[in-house]
Amino acid sequence: MSNNDVLRVGIVGCGAHSHEHFKAAERVKGIKISCCCDIIEERAKACAVKYGCEAYYKDIEDMLKIETLDAVILCTWPMQHMEQIEKCLTSGLKNILCEKSLALSAEEALHIDKLAKEYGAFIMEGCKYRHHPAIRKLESILSYKDIGKIDSIRATFSNYEPEDLLDPDSEPDWRFRKECGGGVPFDWMSYLVNACNHFSRALPKRVFASGDVSPRYGVINRIYGMIEYDNGVVGIIESSKDANFSQELQITCSEGILRMPVAWGIYGEVKITQTHRKQEWDYILTDTYEIEEANAFVLQLDNFSKVIKGIEQPVIPLKQSILNVQTIDALVESMLDKKIVEI
Ligand SMILES: NC(=O)c1ccc[n+]([C@@H]2O[C@H](COP(=O)([O-])OP(=O)(O)OC[C@H]3O[C@@H](n4cnc5c(N)ncnc54)[C@H](O)[C@@H]3O)[C@@H](O)[C@H]2O)c1
Repeated sequence: MSNNDVLRVGIVGCGAHSHEHFKAAERVKGIKISCCCDIIEERAKACAVKYGCEAYYKDIEDMLKIETLDAVILCTWPMQHMEQIEKCLTSGLKNILCEKSLALSAEEALHIDKLAKEYGAFIMEGCKYRHHPAIRKLESILSYKDIGKIDSIRATFSNYEPEDLLDPDSEPDWRFRKECGGGVPFDWMSYLVNACNHFSRALPKRVFASGDVSPRYGVINRIYGMIEYDNGVVGIIESSKDANFSQELQITCSEGILRMPVAWGIYGEVKITQTHRKQEWDYILTDTYEIEEANAFVLQLDNFSKVIKGIEQPVIPLKQSILNVQTIDALVESMLDKKIVEI
């Protein structure tokens, strides 16, 4: 496949988040969303009309049978990802961008890994924040010797979303439905685990977590955890539907502390601060790095297409996503069973 070829891509799941992928594709050279699919046919049709797809489907299997595609974007609920990945691979499609979370258990993640190897497939998890230039900047600051050694990483994703405001008689969003993979662990917390695993540059050894399960929906709506890495770095994660909005990333090193006030959904400009102590005990200096606005969805799709064309490496290799799911699974087990879990 050459750099000038236009990839024919299908989107599965035309819900809220799919629009980011449709819009991103309009800005990425060499990608065309040629068809889309949703079990709610009107949704698929509306997206096809709005974004100029040639066809729309109600059933993924029909789409895979009829269309000749180079790649697919799975934008469905986490509990469907493994099964849909398998359907794509068995139909001969080998390039898959799958929204987070890749899977809902370590077992599912390992099955996806096995399938990817068996079919020689390229599967990348959609976790757009990792494509943002602010993350490249953090990586580069951490590579400078003067910041010292990483001690800990603290990552948060919370928002106050009281369940009593939801109508108990109507079906809630997938995020409150256990059978869809709802709750904070495989949704918001997947960013936190991803960041801790990525920046620690080490393997998670064991975890401990505590939190709460929603009495009404049975999903985990608060989780606070610690991840211990084999190089001594500690990851601290916080995700709650009972706390005010926060999406922070803090990387504490021996010679300075890096902070990003909003790390996962960066819209507009963002500032990274680096604080460090001058000689006097209470004299703190702050350096600020201003990062220009960038569209992480466009960068993600651009990376996805360039990997297919053989000109880039994936920003998020599959083995990292597998490890992230294993870590999330261990944190959930720790929280529910109130014990330390080895990974
Ligand atoms: N990266 C991000 O910033 C981000 C943000 C939001 C959501 N997401 C992810 O995107 C995915 C979808 O989330 P959403 O908020 O758009 O959910 P949603 O409920 O709005 O949309 C999901 C869509 O999938 C459709 N669907 C269900 N089963 C299907 C099937 N078998 N075949 C085809 N379509 C089917 C539903 O009808 C629905 O329209 C999740 O994995 C979520 O974690 C990522």
